[in-house]
Amino acid sequence: MTINLEAITGSSPELLQLHQTIDGCTKCELYKGNEHYVPGMGSQQAEVMFVGEGPGKSEDKYGKPFVGASGKFLDELLVSIGLSRESVYIANMVKCRPPENRDPKESEMEACSGYLDAQIQIIKPKVIVTLGRFSMVKFLPGSKISEAHGVPVQKKSGGPVIFPCYHPAAALYNGSMRPVLMEDFQQLKKILTMFA
Ligand code: URA
Repeated sequence: MTINLEAITGSSPELLQLHQTIDGCTKCELYKGNEHYVPGMGSQQAEVMFVGEGPGKSEDKYGKPFVGASGKFLDELLVSIGLSRESVYIANMVKCRPPENRDPKESEMEACSGYLDAQIQIIKPKVIVTLGRFSMVKFLPGSKISEAHGVPVQKKSGGPVIFPCYHPAAALYNGSMRPVLMEDFQQLKKILTMFA
């Protein structure tokens, strides 16, 4: 067992089962170098789901998403709009760390996509916040993040609202991204009062 069972909050039998299925996955090569699988973290009852790119070094070490430097900023962003990690669900496009923190390959995201689809089906979030361009493109193919960030899209009535944001790591490399993310999260807060 290499998943972190503390990552799931509340009563979440289906989610637990899915996390256990992900543990041991060999659908692509990424599992070969991992210390932990990082299926996701949070509540099965979450109304908002965040989707990042893939685990980094700290995430691989602890088996939880967004626990490194970009995770600290994500926590700040959550707190700024009155949310806690436990009340939301956080996942990634790929569940194992790409070596040297390289971008996940198309084939790896494709191999892993069924797990994210299953997470969405179980949790049924009202709002999906994409963090960075890889997850944005899954939901809004052809979009440019510089234009799409902060703009909610509901593709079909009753379906989840997709809310693209820059990846929190962008603010670590470029300080001018910080206020952009802070502002987009304020917008997210308004959207949550409408849809969640
Ligand atoms: N970056 C991501 O996209 N996901 C994580 O879990 C951590 C860093």
